[in-house]
Amino acid sequence: MKKKWLWGSILYLTVLVLTACGGEGASGDGSGTVGISMPTQSSERWIADGNNMVEQFEALGYETNLQYGEDVIENQIDQIENMITRGVDALVIAAIDGESLTEVLELAHSMEIPVISYDRLIRNSEHVSYYATFDNYQVGVLKGEYIEGYLGLDEGEGPFNIELFAGSPDDNNAYFFFDGAMSVLQPYIDNGQLVVQSGQTDFQQVATLRWDGSLAQERMDNLLSGFYTDKTLDAVLSPYDGISIGIISSLKGVGYGSGDLPMPVVTGQDAERPSIASIIAGEQTQTIFKDTRELAGKAVEMVDAVLKGEEPEVNDTETYENGVKVVPSYLLEPISVDINNYKEVLVGSGYYDESDFEE
Ligand code: GAL
Repeated sequence: MKKKWLWGSILYLTVLVLTACGGEGASGDGSGTVGISMPTQSSERWIADGNNMVEQFEALGYETNLQYGEDVIENQIDQIENMITRGVDALVIAAIDGESLTEVLELAHSMEIPVISYDRLIRNSEHVSYYATFDNYQVGVLKGEYIEGYLGLDEGEGPFNIELFAGSPDDNNAYFFFDGAMSVLQPYIDNGQLVVQSGQTDFQQVATLRWDGSLAQERMDNLLSGFYTDKTLDAVLSPYDGISIGIISSLKGVGYGSGDLPMPVVTGQDAERPSIASIIAGEQTQTIFKDTRELAGKAVEMVDAVLKGEEPEVNDTETYENGVKVVPSYLLEPISVDINNYKEVLVGSGYYDESDFEE
């Protein structure tokens, strides 16, 4: 009788333990390791992207291996190679140079590792399974429309002086941002409401390698001393907050934002904290918020689906041709942010605390 009770108890305990183990994965039943390769920690958005993915993958039961290439292409390739050798089950990659991963993706393919292109499209490889990003053309349109509304171009105001900046020529996104913005601005350049005193309107002339703010600052210095000693600049199209900060420091250097020389309207992207602080201080005018929690969520969903042999949800199968194939994509919606809505959009959504902007 006693023995029976003992066996009964052991059985009961075993069931309890097994249930508890099962319960550990209750938040998700994913298993395996995901390699996450991000471009740089010099911009806080990528830190947020990386952390958000780690958190969300782990909540589903996956392990992660997160690495940053710090804007050195060879680092990123080495890191990805390493992840492959260590046997990751999937890769999520935001490329430093979208055209340099062809070979390492061959290696991933040979090991049957699916690859999700994160935010930036990986070009020249058929081994990109899916692409999670924002509507990059729309990002540009929002910037163009912001300048249009701010200056009253649609009400016939002008002429105004504008200078144009674009992102890194090795990043597919940079072309989408620029083309989207120019779809709004070009007609005003053509009819003379906007004047580019430098004459630099081609992508290659206005691009900024590696999205480097100090390069942008240098170019702005040259533009100001070359074309604006006796003219006033009214607007600057900037593709990214780090670039906007460089441009603004150049503008401040020659007196914009003080006395009777107002800051031009300056756009941006990523809603990084220094830029929100700058918007609050009346320097940068606008930015684009792309919620990295949502983007991470999409990438995690994609990996989870692929590893379970399911089809992830996509909403675009036409736009992102990478030189070899059209990569099925999920495009999220970007939001334009300025002094009027930053609280509602950024603080209201819990992305930031108001105290994050105190310097
Ligand atoms: C782009 C990205 C932008 C910005 C930029 C610089 O690829 O879409 O949001 O982060 O890189 O990091």
